[in-house]
Amino acid sequence: MTKSILFLSGSLRAESLNTRLTAIAARTLPTAYEPDFFDLSDIPPYNADHDGEHAPASVVELRRRIHNAAGVFWATPEYNYAVPGVVKNVIDWASRPIFPQNCLVGKPMNAAVATISATNGVRSLSELKRMWNTSGGLSAPLPDCVITLAPTKFIDEGGIESLEPLSLKMITLAVACLVRLCDSNASEALVENWHSYVAALSS
Ligand SMILES: Cc1cc2nc3c(=O)[nH]c(=O)nc-3n(C[C@H](O)[C@H](O)[C@H](O)COP(=O)(O)O)c2cc1C
Repeated sequence: MTKSILFLSGSLRAESLNTRLTAIAARTLPTAYEPDFFDLSDIPPYNADHDGEHAPASVVELRRRIHNAAGVFWATPEYNYAVPGVVKNVIDWASRPIFPQNCLVGKPMNAAVATISATNGVRSLSELKRMWNTSGGLSAPLPDCVITLAPTKFIDEGGIESLEPLSLKMITLAVACLVRLCDSNASEALVENWHSYVAALSS
């Protein structure tokens, strides 16, 4: 059966560099994987009063798509030296219900940041990976994929948008590292660890 990787953009704007990056990253997937895309525009701010049985339809669908994906690939901006609220909000929704297990637990993830800055972006990347891991997920430690001065890195290749060679190499590597995690049994170990943690808490 074909596995899928869910591509998420941390920017909602129409011309987002990061959304454009998800399309390029998706094209580097091996044939055993298919890309899935989910637009985060309709995800409301997290509100525990609106969670549970009556969770918003967009959130139910997001959780289903994360659950069904073998792994998640984020392309996100850095906002004020941190992840955008859109990204944090997705992690908040996806990390509930905390017990017995939610869609984040054991889920492999890797990420890239496209920024207009020449020097920034890595804080958003490391913060996203830290939050994902501490919510029970599994982010690839490598590579630190930050596309700096991003507007200058996109190129046209016969009518299809791509990246200049070094940036394309880094994105290809980031996706390949995620696929390797998905193909390993690292996620199973994490899920088992989670269940033993839950069992310890309830005994
Ligand atoms: C509210 C806000 C805060 C920003 N803060 C940062 C920042 O801390 N670091 C950075 O590298 N770029 C920052 N930027 C610039 C982004 O790199 C730039 O807007 C980028 O194009 C956003 O990604 P997008 O094209 O996918 O929307 C910020 C932009 C906005 C709108």
